[in-house]
Amino acid sequence: MSVTIKSAKEIELMREAGKILAEVHDALEQMIKPGISTLDIDKLATEKIRSFGCIPSFLNYNGYPASVCVSLNDEVVHGIPKKNRIIKEGDIVSLDAGVIYQGYHSDAARTIAVGNVSKEAELLINVTKQSFFEGMKYAKAGNHLHDISAAIEDYVIAHGFTCVKDLVGHGIGTQMHEDPQIPNFRQKRRGIRLEPGMTLAIEPMVNAGSHEVWCLEDDWTIATQDGSLSAHYENTIVITTGEPEILSLRW
Ligand code: MF3
Ligand code: CO
Repeated sequence: MSVTIKSAKEIELMREAGKILAEVHDALEQMIKPGISTLDIDKLATEKIRSFGCIPSFLNYNGYPASVCVSLNDEVVHGIPKKNRIIKEGDIVSLDAGVIYQGYHSDAARTIAVGNVSKEAELLINVTKQSFFEGMKYAKAGNHLHDISAAIEDYVIAHGFTCVKDLVGHGIGTQMHEDPQIPNFRQKRRGIRLEPGMTLAIEPMVNAGSHEVWCLEDDWTIATQDGSLSAHYENTIVITTGEPEILSLRW
């Protein structure tokens, strides 16, 4: 597949998908407190997504059994919700969810602190989020894709953290994963030229320790190898003739 340019009409549908997903994330964020299970989060996610007439895009994707990925602490992404996995004070919780609205996808992730967390955890969450916005400064027509990658990594490294290299962001549209792949670290080549109408899911995954990750026994959960904390922040965006439009964020 190659990189597709979306029409104004397609972008309008993705705008709606993004707006809905932002609301879903807001609702999930509000329910995060000590004592709830990761499965409780998934139940609300499924309900909320369907209440907007959307399809939860993760559910059954390559056999994934839930609507949301809930990854705690040293888990990077793809944590599977479970009844007996209970959120506690001091945890950091990464929530990744996707919706399909009238055939168009939106994909977004947030990392949330549960009550009082360590100084390191707080900094990690903030640096991860800000690294996305550092990338946004280069998400402009005429720039190259890997300008975004480099900006993300430079910011992360400057704060003493590392970017996961084994997982990448992606194009998005009628499919959750479209071309191009979007690494979160500096590349040797500049990558494709960005053009108005390209829709991308940019998603830095940042570790407090080494960038090395592995897959747990459940064949889904990705965790840091050294047990250090990890955070994730993702939005679906569209490249325009000016500033990028962040579709999955409520301002
Ligand atoms: N949100 C993930 C991504 O950005 C995909 C989740 S994988 C799934 O690529 F299996 F959980 F759907
Ligand atoms: Co994604």
